[in-house]
Amino acid sequence: MNWQDFPKLELHLHLEGAAPPALIRQMAFEKKLDISNIFTPDGGYDYRDFWHFLEVYEAATSVLTGPEEFKRLTAAVLEESAAHGVIYTEAFLSPDFCGGRDVGAWREYLHAIREAADEARAAHGIEMRGVITAIRHFGGDLARETALCAQETAGDFITGFGMGGDEKAGHPKDFAYAFDMAREAGLRLTTHAGEWGGADEVRASLDTLKVERIGHGVQSIDDAALVERLVREGTVLEVCPGSNVFLGVYPDLTAHPIERLRAAGVKVTVSTDDPPFFRTTMTKEYEDLERVFGWDAARFTEVNLVAAEAAFCDEETRAALRKTVENFNV
Ligand code: ADE
Ligand code: ZN
Repeated sequence: MNWQDFPKLELHLHLEGAAPPALIRQMAFEKKLDISNIFTPDGGYDYRDFWHFLEVYEAATSVLTGPEEFKRLTAAVLEESAAHGVIYTEAFLSPDFCGGRDVGAWREYLHAIREAADEARAAHGIEMRGVITAIRHFGGDLARETALCAQETAGDFITGFGMGGDEKAGHPKDFAYAFDMAREAGLRLTTHAGEWGGADEVRASLDTLKVERIGHGVQSIDDAALVERLVREGTVLEVCPGSNVFLGVYPDLTAHPIERLRAAGVKVTVSTDDPPFFRTTMTKEYEDLERVFGWDAARFTEVNLVAAEAAFCDEETRAALRKTVENFNV
């Protein structure tokens, strides 16, 4: 099956992590910044492991020096996503990389990102929402500043709040205040957990941060009681199989728990995380899931309807997304 045009919803995409390496190299050239050490000879991103990936990621973002760069980035990312059939994307946006968490500066970056999103909707029919994302290894105090940016710009475009970064740094309770701030501003909540930190991190995130979705969450499979809880509470997992395999959370897709979680009744969705870093696309994720687990069009429709139900968007957009997913003829 050719999955490229199959309509897809993506709930877990880091905007900077989706930056095409050629765009980052071009911006570095324009600004006379030397970041050649983060690229492989074939022009891809180069890193050793997850923790080095986080460093290379931050080095790549150093060329994104202002709102105009983020407008170009957003345009490039949405064009690429739309080319892979993505009709709705939730992008993680980091005020840390957009003016250093200053609310006034963040508003300017956000304005530029929204302009690109409006243009992409008109040009490619892709819908975007932003999930403001604190970075765990920057600590709880900075997460509060990020949450303030989220509070101040919550609305029809900024609809969620979340956290990424090094799951082994600190404890979810260090971030409870920031998540409370975001919840009080009416934002929907998700956090990365159970990618590296085990099932305990997922449980602690549910208990402490009271999130309705979990980024990754795949290590929940190691704890039967937690799997039961995810099913009972209807927690949605933003699963990124290619990311997990590329980073070595699982040796290969055969060992990946996405199908076991789904079969147990957990609500799973499919995303790419940071596609050029992990040499993946949404089309490739679908091809791989078909090849390894035999997922067919009916299965992917089901998964996309889960994503539509879990999307942090308004009801009118949700209904339109559902309709597109349901009416697609293979
Ligand atoms: N930031 C970007 N990608 C990430 C990932 N896979 N895990 C945690 N933080 C991230
Ligand atoms: Zn992620």
